Amino acid sequence: MSQKQRYTITAALPYTNGPIHIGHLAGVYIPADIFSRYQKAKGNDAIFICGSDEHGVPITIRAKKEGVSPQQIVDKYHTIIKKSFEDFGIEFDNYSRTSLPVHHQTASDFFKKLYDEGKFIEQTTKQLYDEQEHQFLADRFVTGTCPKCGYEHAYGDQCEKCGSSLSPMELINPISTISGSKPVVKETKHWYLPLDQYESWLREWILEGHKHDWKPNVLGQVKSWLDDGLRPRAVTRDLDWGVPVPVKGAEGKVLYVWFDAPIGYISSTKEWSKKTGKDWRPYWQDKNTKLIHFIGKDNIVFHTIIFPAMLKAHGEYILPDNVPANEFLNLEGDKISTSRNWAVWLHEYLEEFPGKQDVLRYVLTANAPETKDNDFTWKDFQTRNNSELVGNLGNFINRVMVLTKKYYQGIIPQPGELTGTDKEVLAQIKTYPRKIGNLIERYRFREALSEYMNLARLGNKYLADEEPWKQVKTAPERVKNIMFVANQIAAALTVLGAVFLPFTARKLKDMLQLPGDLTWDSVAEKEILLPAGHKLGEPQLLFEKIDDETVAKQVQKLLDTKKQNEAGNREIAPQKDEITYEDFMKMDIRTATILHAEKLPKAKKLLVLKVDTGIDKRTIVAGIAEHYKPEDITGKKVLVLVNLKPRKLRGVESQGMILMTENANGKPVFVNPEEDIPNGMNIS
Ligand code: MF3
Ligand code: ZN
Repeated sequence: MSQKQRYTITAALPYTNGPIHIGHLAGVYIPADIFSRYQKAKGNDAIFICGSDEHGVPITIRAKKEGVSPQQIVDKYHTIIKKSFEDFGIEFDNYSRTSLPVHHQTASDFFKKLYDEGKFIEQTTKQLYDEQEHQFLADRFVTGTCPKCGYEHAYGDQCEKCGSSLSPMELINPISTISGSKPVVKETKHWYLPLDQYESWLREWILEGHKHDWKPNVLGQVKSWLDDGLRPRAVTRDLDWGVPVPVKGAEGKVLYVWFDAPIGYISSTKEWSKKTGKDWRPYWQDKNTKLIHFIGKDNIVFHTIIFPAMLKAHGEYILPDNVPANEFLNLEGDKISTSRNWAVWLHEYLEEFPGKQDVLRYVLTANAPETKDNDFTWKDFQTRNNSELVGNLGNFINRVMVLTKKYYQGIIPQPGELTGTDKEVLAQIKTYPRKIGNLIERYRFREALSEYMNLARLGNKYLADEEPWKQVKTAPERVKNIMFVANQIAAALTVLGAVFLPFTARKLKDMLQLPGDLTWDSVAEKEILLPAGHKLGEPQLLFEKIDDETVAKQVQKLLDTKKQNEAGNREIAPQKDEITYEDFMKMDIRTATILHAEKLPKAKKLLVLKVDTGIDKRTIVAGIAEHYKPEDITGKKVLVLVNLKPRKLRGVESQGMILMTENANGKPVFVNPEEDIPNGMNIS
């Protein structure tokens, strides 16, 4: 036996400002759960750690909106989220919460140590302040116009139109999202982690040390952050919800949520230690432990750069061995969105498909966004259920159970001399633990699952080739061999299936009355998993067909959501301040034609347009690359504000602005005259 490896496996702590949906499961929790179950099945010393992320501005905003306290919000969603995980068999060793004392203490001590050792920079800067609410406006507490692209609803931390990362002071015409008032500028003191000082260390640690074992999508993001150059990052905020900054003169300040949340992995491990009586330290301090963070792609920078820099600064903890991040899962072609209710919520799925957790686990694994964004469709859900789970896995198990019962009263027969084919199949079974295991260890869960299904396919092929139902009349002795071998495949499917489909595996175990001591490795090592004379249990229903009507109902539900969004949820902005006729006449808006468009390298939202304004042919940069391909808009008639002062966007001078509006899905839409008008005509 190889030596036991210790693993600390973490899954991103979900924000408790809403329930969780299929995107969360597919992106983070299912792969992490498969990995954890696999390591435990291998006999390794693995713990699987998670908890609720209960701080941060979005939670306080939600609380304000609903007129309750932040604690009430996090209590509500913590309960819902925790139950969803349990319902879907996401088997954490501990699921904690960052509002618990153990976490406040751990995060506070962590900060204090870095503070005492002079690892932070202290800086007083000018920040926006809401005088009505007596509060500084961090992150999402402030909106305004993006200085980079002119989008009017940019947040204090980010512009969702052009993707720029912003700070509140950069916004043009900032507005407090709490009171709606215009903020004033006031000085405040904060602590910064000087990430720039860790840059060369990070470069070496990641790009030299992990070039080969980290996923390309992760390395790609890391590299672009490092190439852009790292800057000191504030790790405190002026807020009253969070972990108080444990320093004199920091009253009314808390740790930035992204400083405290990853420390939550450590506090959750401590909580586990308290519950189990096991020591938590080796899991975070022993150099031989492998720390693995499962996350979604929006969390990459925090787990590959910021948290490692924090751990390095602290000095007593190990660093992540790997950060297997997934891309995003879309739903029926559209980005999953909580605010647009464009999601399949886990608690709702279970109401519609009770007992079918494994069907969803299967589909989300088979279709996981491992290397690129992927799409969940109900049609695909139905097809995979009907042809793969029912048609392949379920069908094989059913045949084995039914035939063994029919011919031998459910008792595994004593085989005669095994033929070449029988031996070949038995030898094949033994190769699967390795094949599947190697893929799981390389975070290729889709392929691992597909190998698993190949084992069921092998079983079906064996039965179809050997035709025991025909041979039973002509060569009954032969059938004993066939059913003996087929039962070995069923046993292997049970043991290996437990990492992907835990509910199904439990049923299978009952059905086969499988001995408890069969491990992952025993499938590779043992000659026989179920001996002759072993009595099977009662058959149970594993999977059933999902009909068109059921699927149509789910699709209809989404169509209704779309309609509702289009009709209702449109937010009408209040009227702007009055202007004079002269003000209006200052704007020179012309009819124009887009002559040419191309993507701006490295800026995923920007297109560089060549536009014929009738006056001249000029360059305009537009933040629409995520919605339009260059070829879609070449030749398009548009309206252009031509006398807008030119501005540089990512190094390209933009000489005007294309007039656009937005449809219900947030897609920018061009504004056009109803008739074909030549270029250069005035709008007034
Ligand atoms: N709450 C964050 C999110 O949902 C993830 C936090 S992960 C941790 O995006 F590292 F902070 F724990
Ligand atoms: Zn912008």
